Amino acid sequence: MTLESTTVLDGPGTARPAVHRRYLMCRPTYFAVEYAINPWMDPGAPVDPALAVRQWETLRRTYLDLGHTVEEIEPLPGLPDMVFAANGATVIDGSALAVQFRDPERADEAPAYAGWLDRAGFEVYDAKHVNEGEGDILPVGDLLLAGTGFRTSHAAHAHLQEVFGRPVITLQLVDPRFYHLDTALCVLDDATVAYLPEAFSPGSQATLRRLFPDAVLATAADAEVLGLNAVSDGRHVVLPAQATGLSAALRDRGYDTIGVDLSELRKAGGGPKCCTLVLREREASK
Ligand code: ARG
Repeated sequence: MTLESTTVLDGPGTARPAVHRRYLMCRPTYFAVEYAINPWMDPGAPVDPALAVRQWETLRRTYLDLGHTVEEIEPLPGLPDMVFAANGATVIDGSALAVQFRDPERADEAPAYAGWLDRAGFEVYDAKHVNEGEGDILPVGDLLLAGTGFRTSHAAHAHLQEVFGRPVITLQLVDPRFYHLDTALCVLDDATVAYLPEAFSPGSQATLRRLFPDAVLATAADAEVLGLNAVSDGRHVVLPAQATGLSAALRDRGYDTIGVDLSELRKAGGGPKCCTLVLREREASK
């Protein structure tokens, strides 16, 4: 059993099947680095907002060219991090668990995303604890990998399991540069992940080795350009163009990699995955 239907976008004979995805994105109209809530953010350093929009448009166009569906939520002034749609919710099987941000600067994003999901027909569950959505919660096969240590609280993991009825694997993040799970680990398909071992506690590293003995192990150089903040449809992996080592490792394993340059958004600590919320609809057969 898998989380999504395996609609193959490519013809027969291709190496790996791609899954059709529906994504939610938020144009970075009001993007800026006005506060610092992670080590990447320096409010004193220059940001080129027009370039940020162009880079984001390239990411959006990349998804459309791959055959995916992209929905957009209206950006709100005064919420410069709203572009990071992955933090807007966790959406599985037609249900959405709303978020509760750790930092007050991002608090008003939560009702905006919950409202959009409600209007789009998803069943929305309220957050009960600090929980930053798909930034820290990554479905892989029937499991939910859940990060904690910086943002999403451990208590949220138990709530997550109640809402979605899927086993939750708690992973302890230990490096403040990799403060969300999606900066330290990327889900490649229903059974495979790529991750930076040293971003996790020893017990979490052992857990990842047990669950994913064939995982792609990233290097510090890959992670330091947010290379693991990548979006895979099972075949195509959209990742930061600067992550050349990881890209080569993924190609060796039969994935098609597509590099995108999100240098401006990286100044806020975000990459392609942060800009992308996966909308997983209820499976027709269930
Ligand atoms: N500046 C944002 C924050 O620190 C970046 C969020 C990145 N999102 C993600 N899914 N990793 O909250």
